[in-house]
Amino acid sequence: MSDKVILAYSGGLDTSVAIKWIQEKYDMEVVTFTADLGNDPDLEAIRQRALDIGAVKALVADVREEFVREFVFPALKAGAVYEGEYPLSTALARPLIARCLAETALKEGATAVAHGCTGKGNDQVRFDVSIGSLAPELKIIAPVRDSTLSREEALEYATLHKLPIKVTKASPYSIDQNLWGRSIECGILEDPWAEPPEDAFAWTRSPQAAPDQPAYLEISFQAGVPVGLDGQALGPVELIARLTSLAGEHGVGRIDHVENRLVGIKSREVYEMPAAMVLLKAHRTLESLTLSKDQLRFKDTVAATYSDLVYNGLWFSALRRDLDAFVESTQRFVTGEVRVKLFKGTCAVVGRKSPYSLYSHGLATYDRADQFDHSAAVGFIQLWGLPHRIQRRVQGETEKPTPTS
Ligand code: ARG
Repeated sequence: MSDKVILAYSGGLDTSVAIKWIQEKYDMEVVTFTADLGNDPDLEAIRQRALDIGAVKALVADVREEFVREFVFPALKAGAVYEGEYPLSTALARPLIARCLAETALKEGATAVAHGCTGKGNDQVRFDVSIGSLAPELKIIAPVRDSTLSREEALEYATLHKLPIKVTKASPYSIDQNLWGRSIECGILEDPWAEPPEDAFAWTRSPQAAPDQPAYLEISFQAGVPVGLDGQALGPVELIARLTSLAGEHGVGRIDHVENRLVGIKSREVYEMPAAMVLLKAHRTLESLTLSKDQLRFKDTVAATYSDLVYNGLWFSALRRDLDAFVESTQRFVTGEVRVKLFKGTCAVVGRKSPYSLYSHGLATYDRADQFDHSAAVGFIQLWGLPHRIQRRVQGETEKPTPTS
């Protein structure tokens, strides 16, 4: 009996080519695994396609809930946004798929796992490093990378072998999507000067075409996790799906980013992430109400490291676990409501409240109810400025005021 391999199967060109390629070149039995991440309604068609191409078994698993609870929400709580632009949708799903592949390999008695990544992206790193951390005994096969097939050659191979995939020259984009976001690459988008055409977008209306009336929305958070919309409690999958359609309808969620890939190249990437953009903003707003200035400052440094780890394929690292423990501790009082206004491509926070709010009206107000001790400011400023006055006296390097004519 030939060895068995578990292939991460999306139903697209590269992974369909991979089924055939592995059978031909490696003489292995291919079991496909397709993760339902909230990305494709027609999973049955994908399953059937795998079998038609020659997989001995085609598995599909609904992992939406674990995706959100174990990957998306921790990243949201950490405030993880790669290079200040990309909320890491594809990057967060890869370690989960890798974990599913390793578990399935164990169950099915497979000796290898496979993926359809090319040799120039981040995803190959995320898969390989995750598999290596979880199940180092498994061999990893990457047919597209190993064969160095270009997209055109993959298309030719698919046509030659009559693979039942829709070869769409009309849709020039390479797309990866899950509940948290949609990544769009290739075609005209490879020219960083070219504005992304409307046909690149599927989840968001263009801001010009969005409704002329704004939508107001109240988001409830419990210990850093969004738990309801407009007073209605919602499970994590439902909440993200609803936010995606509502914010997308108002043109919120488009991202256009030239990002630094781990393999050293700059790449122009377009994303649609309506729910992520609204939730990250709302979450940060609630943090600014309930965390101290020092907590906020330090947490920002953690967020930068956290997003680099996730982007660079190090989800299953000890450091990420340690950072998660810190982040989790910061979320104890991040509970309350945030009110946002969605209007023609913008998401503005217009209100926030929390039972743990550190905002004190008595201290902040300029009217008669003022409780702030103004006289205490004088002594405070004396001491605050003290080291600077001494430095000026001793070293004399401070700028001198220049007289204006
Ligand atoms: N640049 C993004 C990332 O590295 C998106 C990658 C999209 N992947 C894909 N197979 N189309 O996370």
